[in-house]
Amino acid sequence: MKVFAEPDDMQAESLRLRREGVRIGLVPTMGYLHEGHLSLVRIAREHCDVAVVSVFVNPTQFGPGEDLDSYPRDFERDRRLCEQAGTAILFCPSADSMYRPAHSVYVQEESLSRGLCGASRPTHFCGVTTVVAKLFNIVLPHVAVFGRKDAQQARILERMVRDLNFPVRLLVGPIVREPDGLAMSSRNRYLSPRERRDALCLRKALLETERLYGEGERSAAALRARMETIIRQVDSATIDYLAVVDYENLQPLETVDRPALVAVAARVGATRLIDNTLIGIEENEE
Ligand code: PAJ
Repeated sequence: MKVFAEPDDMQAESLRLRREGVRIGLVPTMGYLHEGHLSLVRIAREHCDVAVVSVFVNPTQFGPGEDLDSYPRDFERDRRLCEQAGTAILFCPSADSMYRPAHSVYVQEESLSRGLCGASRPTHFCGVTTVVAKLFNIVLPHVAVFGRKDAQQARILERMVRDLNFPVRLLVGPIVREPDGLAMSSRNRYLSPRERRDALCLRKALLETERLYGEGERSAAALRARMETIIRQVDSATIDYLAVVDYENLQPLETVDRPALVAVAARVGATRLIDNTLIGIEENEE
């Protein structure tokens, strides 16, 4: 596995690979890798000749008072896991090399990024679209793989690729869960054993929504009310949002009469967790 820290070196390698006709698959991450990330590496390898994993804790997507400084980092472990997963290239730039002094150009999505996580994290998605646009220009991938775990992020990046004509095909992999159903996340390590158990209320609420939808419930208000009841039973959990939105435009739905994203964000103790499910889809892509 090759390791590059300098954007110019990474880009030179990608240009060389492209000249040789090698197809490049990129998996952008913020590191502290888990099976969710590694499942995306496997998807990249299935679709491409080489998988590039980027590990970069992107400062511009953290708001003031968020966990940028405490975000978990373990480069040696990430390197080992990448190597084991068959990654050809690990790209791990420094913040200084990605954002030069007086960096002043950002990519802003103006619609899909307003609601859901964007409501409580107003600058977050601009940081995400900016860094992913930069990664696309540096790594020059044919394919980039993202996880459904961050469903809003994936929709926004699909829109960015379409609206800014990036010659990149996006693939979205299914949510990988712990055996008890908790969606894997680098932030799960912040949870105390008690909070770790409490955190299951997100999945429980979403499974209940799937069950009610399966029984014929189509009212978004009814689905949200049931989820709210389940999460409110857990003392350590505070709901940020519970949403049933049109999967296409992420606008709230009253009636689930089309593909819908059911998304939840809650703080368990001090840790903000997100999870989601898709309903109203004939052939569930997951
Ligand atoms: P990070 O949270 O490290 O996630 C990297 C990728 O892994 C994202 O596409 C995310 O959706 C996916 N992922 C995380 N947990 C997953 C799980 N349990 N199952 C499946 N996929 C999962 O998302 C980011 O980093 C950043 O915003 C980034 C896109 C790298 C830009 O900085």
